[in-house]
Amino acid sequence: MQCQVCSLVIVGQHHVRIAIRFYPGNFWHITDLHWDPTYNLTDNPELVCASSGTRPAANAGKFGDYACDSPWLLINSSVYAMKNILPDPDFILWTGDDTPHVPNEDLGEEAVLHIISSLTHIINQVFPNTKVYPALGNHDYHPKSQLPSPLLNRTGFRMLVLNTNLYYDQNKATQDMDDPAGQFSWADQVLTEAANNKEKVYIIGHVPPGFFEKKRNKPWFMPSFNKLYLDLIQKHHSVILGQFFGHHHTDSFRMFYNSEGSPISTMFLSPGVTPWKTSLPGVTDGANNPGIRVFEYDTQTLLVKDVVTHYLNLTRANAARGRWEKEYRLTESFRVPDASPASMHQALERIASSRCYLQKYYEFNSVSYDLTECNSDCRVDHVCAAREVDFDRYEHCLEKEGTAAIYGVFLPVLSMAVSLVFANW
Ligand SMILES: *[C@@H]1O[C@H](CO)[C@@H](O)[C@H](O)[C@H]1NC(C)=O
Ligand SMILES: *[C@@H]1O[C@H](CO)[C@@H](O)[C@H](O)[C@H]1NC(C)=O
Ligand SMILES: *[C@@H]1O[C@H](CO)[C@@H](O)[C@H](O)[C@H]1NC(C)=O
Ligand SMILES: *[C@@H]1O[C@H](CO)[C@@H](O)[C@H](O)[C@H]1NC(C)=O
Ligand SMILES: [Zn+2]
Ligand SMILES: [Zn+2]
Repeated sequence: MQCQVCSLVIVGQHHVRIAIRFYPGNFWHITDLHWDPTYNLTDNPELVCASSGTRPAANAGKFGDYACDSPWLLINSSVYAMKNILPDPDFILWTGDDTPHVPNEDLGEEAVLHIISSLTHIINQVFPNTKVYPALGNHDYHPKSQLPSPLLNRTGFRMLVLNTNLYYDQNKATQDMDDPAGQFSWADQVLTEAANNKEKVYIIGHVPPGFFEKKRNKPWFMPSFNKLYLDLIQKHHSVILGQFFGHHHTDSFRMFYNSEGSPISTMFLSPGVTPWKTSLPGVTDGANNPGIRVFEYDTQTLLVKDVVTHYLNLTRANAARGRWEKEYRLTESFRVPDASPASMHQALERIASSRCYLQKYYEFNSVSYDLTECNSDCRVDHVCAAREVDFDRYEHCLEKEGTAAIYGVFLPVLSMAVSLVFANW
């Protein structure tokens, strides 16, 4: 996109980056593969895939359709793309949702296990010597979202795998509990021990706290669990060097602040492999291009240094050959020195106050699928979802930013003066 102010300034930063010594490492994060084994190319768009429901798969091609979950060829293509792009990562994070969006009746336990084992198999086959940290999604059980028992695991000395499906408001099995499966007290204990041992921790999970940025007032967690999650991060932020989640299928992030308002932690929401257009009422055209993502980090401190997202333009892939491309590098696109909480806060403030950064962020949010303009309501939804995980503070943000949109930043009359200010950032 044309965005002179945004793209101008990269040169100076490279000096800074070279000057800072760190011990580079990198890892993959993939999520929401949602393999649909029924996908097949037929002349009747309504019979292409079970996951499209009653919607026709109007542009079905061999790599998929925006109305459908992933065909095997797309799964295969994404795992081999990982191998081509970064064949020897330090590890792979795989945060769940493996099965298609179909009614429970259409997907027995056997089918769920078959899907999970096929995906596990291809990842292990292509990356035989790489450690994979999996977290289960809400679609990885049968019946969906009704988890009977905890699946807690501490798969590594610095990896905390949370089963946040327990907090999902559709999970009837846990809604009356104070601390389902004792996971919060367990996590509190693990993080306390980590602090005592001077360890650093990454948290991975599937369903994130806070709100869905594509639909106003849409949280996933029950309110009490959302609060407990925030408390956990605020208490232990000094040992938590990153949080990596999925479920949205979009590319976004969530900020965590202390009581003084300083940024203390970031949750990265990585885009899904499935292009499936969400059927959530109130979201228009909520599909995405398939995305996979490399995190660059410091192996000594676990500081997240950068995020590089790669994607498949599904339309183009179907028309010609499937070719995965780099979509963007975080530090270049948002002109920040790294992916620390302070830098992500800076990126968020740019997105909140500059039309140009907002539009860039918005296009990345759907992995360059939806290239329409992010208007002022859209701005408020995305900015408040990223800024406020807490339910009350989110509500307050909607009011405040909604008013800001009326009085200032986005009024065309004022925007020239404002963009001059941002040009100096
Ligand atoms: C293609 O998928 C449709 C819908 O799931 C199914 O009815 C049909 O039998 C499938 N055809 C083949 C050849 O698998
Ligand atoms: C998977 O992708 C690889 C690399 O492009 C290709 O060699 C292989 O034939 C594919 N397998 C299937 C089943 O599509
Ligand atoms: C859980 O941890 C145990 C050992 O700590 C390991 O053997 C097992 O594979 C892990 N399971 C998962 C799902 O990561
Ligand atoms: C994806 O490919 C289609 C078809 O070639 C093209 O019209 C569209 O602009 C591409 N999108 C991006 C973000 O490059
Ligand atoms: Zn999903
Ligand atoms: Zn999910």
